[in-house]
Amino acid sequence: MLDIHDFERFAEVETPFYFYDIDLFRRTTDALAALSDSYGIKIHYAVKANSEERLLRMLSARGFGSDCVSANEVVLSAQNGFAPSDIMLAGVGKTDKEIRTSLEVGIGCFNVESIPEMEVIDAIAGGMGVKAPVALRINPNIDPHTHKYITTGLEENKFGISRFEFEPAVERLKACPNLDFKGLLFHIGSQITDVANVFGLEAKCARELVSWFEDRGLKVEHVDLGGGLGVDYDDPDGHPVADFETWMKALRSCFPKGGAYKLHIEPGRSVVAQCGTLVTRVVYVKKGRTKNFVIVDAGMNDLIRPALYGAYHKVENLTASYCRKDNTKDCAYDVVGPICESSDVWGEGRILRQTRRGDLLAIRSAGAYGRTMASRYNMRDLAPAVYSDEL
Ligand SMILES: Cc1ncc(COP(=O)(O)O)c(C=O)c1O
Repeated sequence: MLDIHDFERFAEVETPFYFYDIDLFRRTTDALAALSDSYGIKIHYAVKANSEERLLRMLSARGFGSDCVSANEVVLSAQNGFAPSDIMLAGVGKTDKEIRTSLEVGIGCFNVESIPEMEVIDAIAGGMGVKAPVALRINPNIDPHTHKYITTGLEENKFGISRFEFEPAVERLKACPNLDFKGLLFHIGSQITDVANVFGLEAKCARELVSWFEDRGLKVEHVDLGGGLGVDYDDPDGHPVADFETWMKALRSCFPKGGAYKLHIEPGRSVVAQCGTLVTRVVYVKKGRTKNFVIVDAGMNDLIRPALYGAYHKVENLTASYCRKDNTKDCAYDVVGPICESSDVWGEGRILRQTRRGDLLAIRSAGAYGRTMASRYNMRDLAPAVYSDEL
């Protein structure tokens, strides 16, 4: 939760900036590590959600592995303390260069998303005189009931190997001498809030498919059930730490502890979303004919989720909350950024304390898919990262 002490220190910092609450990050990773131990589930943090090196070092120090989608993420993981054997590489478009780099780093597993990719990894590994550890990423055709841009396990999505290709994938895999089969990966989507039902269904489907592949002679060592646990964007202070336990319980429902398979998960958003806030300053308050606009100095280039998916982020006026003793009433505003796109909107009709030029606003739950998706559109500077214990 942002408090008056954070706010007082913000006055010195040029806006916009990403503020990371290190205490909350520690609390979150403490909870995740404790549950990972008690449920016997190995964590591979999804680097795409937030690749701040300071956070990566804290995660690797906990013994977590990493889940990557580019060779740059693989190299960054290795540089920040992740054991190479705990680094996984997924992604539908792994290039030859990325495959070679990942083999040189000695990663623990390539999550293979198609038969052509399998053949390329086999050939490159053969050329380098090594064996590539691989898992098959399965497209189980499960609806995660989330935004259509963040579903990944439906047949219409580009990810993973679909049922109609299972037989040929097994045959091809058996014919690849330089691949070492390790397991199966399932990842069905992100920001999943119907946790017990959707992940329970995923686990059930995964369990059936593990048997299917084993019946065809593949020895499954690990089952990776991906990421996707949702966070509470509406009420970040009410639920600062995600419900890791319900998630793990649902996954374990079909894979009892002590069974034949190592279970892995790949959380991203749920690890970092709530500890990040995009702090921005009001540049102008502008009257429209039917509404009032609050124009801030953070734009969609800093955090693209609202413009890209219509995602909701809570917006708070910190200056009004912490500095203004007068009893100004609440008003409705469209809070917008400075970018030359009509989708550069933080929220329409948001109720805020009466807002003035110079006020500091907090755009909450911005720690995941925020700074990693930032761009320099309109030639803007990238918003820097600021840590609560370094201010
Ligand atoms: C393969 C894979 N694993 C893990 C994740 C992380 O998902 P989340 O941030 O929802 O936990 C993603 C996100 O898209 C992914 O594609």
